[in-house]
Amino acid sequence: MRIGIATDHGGFGLKEELLTQLRVAGYEVVDFGAHCLNPNDDYPDFVIPLARAVVAGEVERGVAICGSGVGAAVCANKVSGIRAAIIHDHFSARQGVEDDHMNIICMGGRTVGPAVAWDLVQTFLTAEFSQAERHLRRLGKVASLESGSQ
Ligand code: RB5
Repeated sequence: MRIGIATDHGGFGLKEELLTQLRVAGYEVVDFGAHCLNPNDDYPDFVIPLARAVVAGEVERGVAICGSGVGAAVCANKVSGIRAAIIHDHFSARQGVEDDHMNIICMGGRTVGPAVAWDLVQTFLTAEFSQAERHLRRLGKVASLESGSQ
């Protein structure tokens, strides 16, 4: 699976750790930055290109990190076709994909440790959308918001 990862300074250390672990685990990873620790950088500059790549199919799923995960989730969800959420528990990492078709997982580099983050990322990447009718129906209602028909 080809995935993308992005962070600002708030998650730079965690991004570097996850990048290494993902590659060791056999994932093809596109690194959308930050490529160095710059305390003055801005999460949209990295998260938006990642989100656009997910929508374009250039990467299948994304991992977006900032200090808390909040900014990453807010801006990723502004890109039409993105279903991003802050995930800090194992259950939601799986169910967010199975039920809600989450395609970007967001985490806080200042709020989650590397071992938990790695578990969450693996869980997110190995989960599959259920295709259940009730979830398709709900996602259709969400998608209609993006298309302006609701
Ligand atoms: C940057 O210091 C911090 O505000 C940012 O990484 C993130 O936590 C925003 O949600």
